[in-house]
Amino acid sequence: MPPIHNRLKRPQGRRFLATTASNIMAGQFMSQTSDSGASPAAAELTGMARQAADRGIRSLFSDDPSRYLEFSAALGDLVLDYSKTSIDDDARDALIALARSRGVEARRDAMFAGEPINFTEDRSVLHMALRAEPMDGFRAARNPVSGAVADVLKAMSAFAEGVRNGTITGARDTQITDVVNIGIGGSDLGPAMATLALAPYHDGPRTHFVSNVDGAHIADTLKTLDPASTLFIIASKTFTTIETMTNAAAARRWISDALGEDAVGDHFAAVSTALDKVADFGIASERIFGFWDWVGGRYSIWSAIGLPLMIAIGASDFRDFLAGAREMDTHFRTAPLDQNLPVLLGLVGYWHRALCDYPTRAVIPYDQRLSRFPAYLQQLDMESNGKRVGLDGETVPVSGPVVWGEPGTNGQHAFFQLIHQGTDIIPVEFLVGANAHEPAEMRVHQDLLLANCLAQSEALMRGRTLDEARQQLLDGGMEREQAERIAPHRVFPGDRPSITLLYRQLDPATLGRLIALYEHRVFVEAQLYGINAFDQWGVELGKELANRLVPVITGETSAEGRDSSTAGLVAAIHKLRGS
Ligand code: F6P
Repeated sequence: MPPIHNRLKRPQGRRFLATTASNIMAGQFMSQTSDSGASPAAAELTGMARQAADRGIRSLFSDDPSRYLEFSAALGDLVLDYSKTSIDDDARDALIALARSRGVEARRDAMFAGEPINFTEDRSVLHMALRAEPMDGFRAARNPVSGAVADVLKAMSAFAEGVRNGTITGARDTQITDVVNIGIGGSDLGPAMATLALAPYHDGPRTHFVSNVDGAHIADTLKTLDPASTLFIIASKTFTTIETMTNAAAARRWISDALGEDAVGDHFAAVSTALDKVADFGIASERIFGFWDWVGGRYSIWSAIGLPLMIAIGASDFRDFLAGAREMDTHFRTAPLDQNLPVLLGLVGYWHRALCDYPTRAVIPYDQRLSRFPAYLQQLDMESNGKRVGLDGETVPVSGPVVWGEPGTNGQHAFFQLIHQGTDIIPVEFLVGANAHEPAEMRVHQDLLLANCLAQSEALMRGRTLDEARQQLLDGGMEREQAERIAPHRVFPGDRPSITLLYRQLDPATLGRLIALYEHRVFVEAQLYGINAFDQWGVELGKELANRLVPVITGETSAEGRDSSTAGLVAAIHKLRGS
């Protein structure tokens, strides 16, 4: 059989849109992306998904013994297996045709070219520039950015290494033993997730992450720390986020109460795009690390927002992390669509969400150190693709799914029951490393982890028939009548989809590749849904209402005129507080 990309090169009788990067400003792009469900490819795909649901997945394996080879792709040692989905040759061809007709390649090129594809905020989307080499020549709105990126990387490397080697100390010349990052959303989830993921590479101070405005978070974190040896990083793109500002003020008080107001400068650093606001907080300019409005919060781990990670693992490993992501960028830009990991992952995601109508997907890392990866992806994916208005201002029929998950094997003993036998179909995304970092005498752990991961995807796909269930009970010595009654409860329907991402070992470059893979996957899906993945207006209303409710909670203003639920709850709060 010829390689997949040869077979896919043939013209498929569909009209491919000749969209170029330069004509792809939002307005011009709308007409090509607002036809959800109407283009020939989309209509064809809906029919295919229906047929696939009837046919299932098992039979695809019996029909084609080399299915794994046909429906997997790799970038170096990162393997994507999507063979345990209901996508067949024709569906893949049609999905790729749809991606072309929705302008995935042209829009990708526009993004890399620095065009303001985030048109509701009139911004470029250039987090890839943060992990690029100067020769890559990234420009935002035609202005070169690599010089500024390199300067910040150099400054944060010098600061991180100074903290790590003890040349940068606290006000009393005490070595920094603990770094507390104060931030939320993209200013927390990325560095918190990655710092945990790369724990084997830690040789710097301990790192802690405070995000929640709930005072318990900062109080419990500071309880065990010594102000003299603690450094705070205030991370906020806008430097206005109420949670971060409130926690930063608490941290400032904690330092000045213990060490005096003069010590504040030695115990704080900041990461922000709002340099003037940081200066007002009292942080010296050489401790402020900037980034730019073309870096979305949830795409900012590669910027100075990664400072706590860099302090933990060192500048060299941080550069390996960036290099891994850059490798994925190059792959995304250049690999044929049928071999392109972010494109394939996006197409699988769209197939499940928009065509099979599965409302959620579970991300299950069989890698304990990726335990925050699902939470990280929740922001990356749902804040990007949880939209109801398309590029043309019209309501879209469907957008991104609910993303959730927990590490395996723990999930197996919690919610996998529902995934195997519940009435909803939930596609699962397994992530697992072939190798652990633990010593050889612990190898059995990794063997068990791998066996469990593969067993879950096999069980989801194969299932167990009524005959098999009954026979198993009879073989175990059960009476026939009893076996007939119990067997239906032990049936697994099977034909439940999953994909597996397998990597050699969770090292900095692999983590970089993985994150960039998911970033670009979100982008690909957004083009298929016809939405802008890079704004997040949906978080604003709650923030506005919270601000207006603060004086109501404190009793400065009354709850009169609010809906009866809100007013009733405010009255109950006042009663419970005795106010
Ligand atoms: O509320 C959502 C959000 O704006 C995210 O997009 C962002 O990552 C987070 O808040 C934190 O914002 P900032 O870094 O400006 O404090």
